[in-house]
Amino acid sequence: MRGRQVVSMLAAGLVAACSASNSATDGERASAEEAPLSASAPAAARSVSAATAGSTGIGDPYFPGDGNGGYDATHYGLALAYDPKSRQLGGTATIDAKATQDLSQFNLDLSGFTVRSVTVNGAPAEFSRKGSELTVRTDLKDKAAFKVEVAYAGTPQPVRESSNLGSYGFIPTPDGSFVTCEPNGAKTWFPSNDHPADKATFDFTLTVPEGVTAIANGELAGQPKTTNGKTTFIWREKHPMTTYLATMTTGKFQVRTGTSPGGIPVYAAADPRFRTSLNSLYDQSGKITDYWATVFGPYPFGSTGGVVDDFAAGYALENQTKPIYGGFEPDEGIIAHELAHQWFGNSLSITRWKDLWLNEGFATYAEWLWSEHRGQGTAQQQFNDAYAGATDAIWKYPPGETRPNDLFNASVYTRGGMALHALRLEIGDGKFFPLIKKWAADHRYGNVTTEQFIELAEKTSGKQLDDLFDAWLFKQRKPAKPTSVS
Ligand code: TRP
Ligand code: ZN
Repeated sequence: MRGRQVVSMLAAGLVAACSASNSATDGERASAEEAPLSASAPAAARSVSAATAGSTGIGDPYFPGDGNGGYDATHYGLALAYDPKSRQLGGTATIDAKATQDLSQFNLDLSGFTVRSVTVNGAPAEFSRKGSELTVRTDLKDKAAFKVEVAYAGTPQPVRESSNLGSYGFIPTPDGSFVTCEPNGAKTWFPSNDHPADKATFDFTLTVPEGVTAIANGELAGQPKTTNGKTTFIWREKHPMTTYLATMTTGKFQVRTGTSPGGIPVYAAADPRFRTSLNSLYDQSGKITDYWATVFGPYPFGSTGGVVDDFAAGYALENQTKPIYGGFEPDEGIIAHELAHQWFGNSLSITRWKDLWLNEGFATYAEWLWSEHRGQGTAQQQFNDAYAGATDAIWKYPPGETRPNDLFNASVYTRGGMALHALRLEIGDGKFFPLIKKWAADHRYGNVTTEQFIELAEKTSGKQLDDLFDAWLFKQRKPAKPTSVS
């Protein structure tokens, strides 16, 4: 019976290494049955039977299918060509990963496309598809480093089902693509472990028709090269990044590069329809990044900047190193918000979506700090206005546990920002600003949770802050208005 199973698995085309270890198991089991029980036999059997399927989700209760278990992605190499006319995207994604268990198979998140082939460590691997899951059969030991290569092509389809975001993911535009993937739209253009808990470095080799600019995260590695009417741009993001922050925004762009007054490289790009916004985007992005470095600590990435595209999204996303503004000229407030995310959200990333206020509450509070810095109303005034103007919904829905079908609700932003101001009043500026810097420094390039922030706030201030955080983050009612400490 067992023997036959091995034969039929071989016939199904499983890789040789896998079938070899299966027959070894059978041999060992057979002799173990005959021999008296020994200490080594069960151990040997266990070491082989422990290889199981990596889970189809990373374990986020809000999005059970997002991400995957059983491995950690460490690097994505995306070599992709996009043709705006035919809307065809194709190429290969090479994923470096490390197994976190013995693996008989693992999943990647990918929606749409035709997958032409998958290899693991250079050998062809069996794969299957179901919904947004691409399952790859393998035989890997716990802690083994491995390389997966997926060749695929097709017409990208953005995610449309979201209740308060409209479309997101890879969005085709008349001259290229507008790519904003929060929370789980990376799967609309490359196979990945599509969840912020698994960060990785990236490189992008992007080929587009001559005359089109391809913009991704990080910095350009050399000059773009044009042959036979196609131009290839190579971008590298050498710092860890969540999948939702990855972008390949393509189209006609005017570009300005240089360095901020404080010495940080700046890359700014604007669609020709927004050419008059380019200089202000460039200047503000450099200036604001410099300022945040004084408030939050050293800038975590190799460059800053932004992109204004003509796709009328009406929103912005904090894509790592290059926030993108969809169809409007950004003002200082929103630039301050998106650039604050480079610290809070991008360098420090959430581990579960329920903790989203750690991104949006911080970025909202940063807008208030920027306003104060510019002499346009103090953070206290912004807080007062927000407190007075808050809708019942903001008090009814606490930001500490956002809702999966309404992730980016006003409470996560505004009451999240108010929570930070209430904390500032409680512990005083002399403790608050060092706490924010220490938070950014301690978890640079990592993943964080709300519990960790509360713990650090208590440690830094020497105060018991459960009641304060409970009132601002978790209670379904309006907290009393805090009074300032001297
Ligand atoms: N994080 C964005 C912000 O507040 C908002 C956002 C969430 C978004 N998901 C998105 C923007 C998807 C564009 C696409 O700045
Ligand atoms: Zn934001």
